[in-house]
Amino acid sequence: MIIAVDGPAASGKGTLSRRIASYYELAYLDTGTLYRGVGWVMLSKNLDPGDEAAAGETARSFSLEQIAGADIRTPDVGRAASRVAALPVVRAALLDFQRQFAAKPPHGAAGAVLDGRDIGTVVCPDALVKFYITAAPEERARRRHEELRQRDGGLSYEMTLEDIKRRDARDSGRETAPMRPAADAQFIDTTKLDADAVFARACRFIDNAIEDRNEAVG
Ligand code: C5P
Repeated sequence: MIIAVDGPAASGKGTLSRRIASYYELAYLDTGTLYRGVGWVMLSKNLDPGDEAAAGETARSFSLEQIAGADIRTPDVGRAASRVAALPVVRAALLDFQRQFAAKPPHGAAGAVLDGRDIGTVVCPDALVKFYITAAPEERARRRHEELRQRDGGLSYEMTLEDIKRRDARDSGRETAPMRPAADAQFIDTTKLDADAVFARACRFIDNAIEDRNEAVG
């Protein structure tokens, strides 16, 4: 059982995905971690995230151990992630890991929740349920600003909004695997919903899909 959750930064997709994974006892992969990880490794080696050859090499040799303890949640790393994520060599190198995770989730879990930008369209096109989680850019900037306020490198609200808009444009405008809802994705706009309401709505879709599938297999 694979659940695909896509959407832009700070839309609430991570919170929703973790809750779905815990409730249905599925493994969870935040695929943004992989792109942020590659971006972080490049920044830590003073490499330019736009350098295609270096980014490809970094992605091919990337492992999660390399970023153990690293702070990958900063705006700088988010920006670097979005730049490396536009490079086809990087996407190709990370695709295998994501598909393996979905095909054989760790700890014997009966399935997985993957969240990102291209899960429903590219990584897991056969997912049982696909969500596209959105919210108004101003609300996403408010949440991200709140989240990062206490940290070094936290940006002002205006700069956070600008950063989010620029990242949305790059992620949806790139040629390879752009951020886009799958044709059969369920949209949830979280601008005016709290996490409980989003989760309840998502569960209804998932429970219906499980019921339909059980009926189909008799
Ligand atoms: O979700 P998060 O903000 O951590 O993702 C960081 C960046 O990684 C995104 O802005 C996007 O460019 C890239 N990404 C992607 N495809 C995914 C997940 C993340 O391109 N499946």
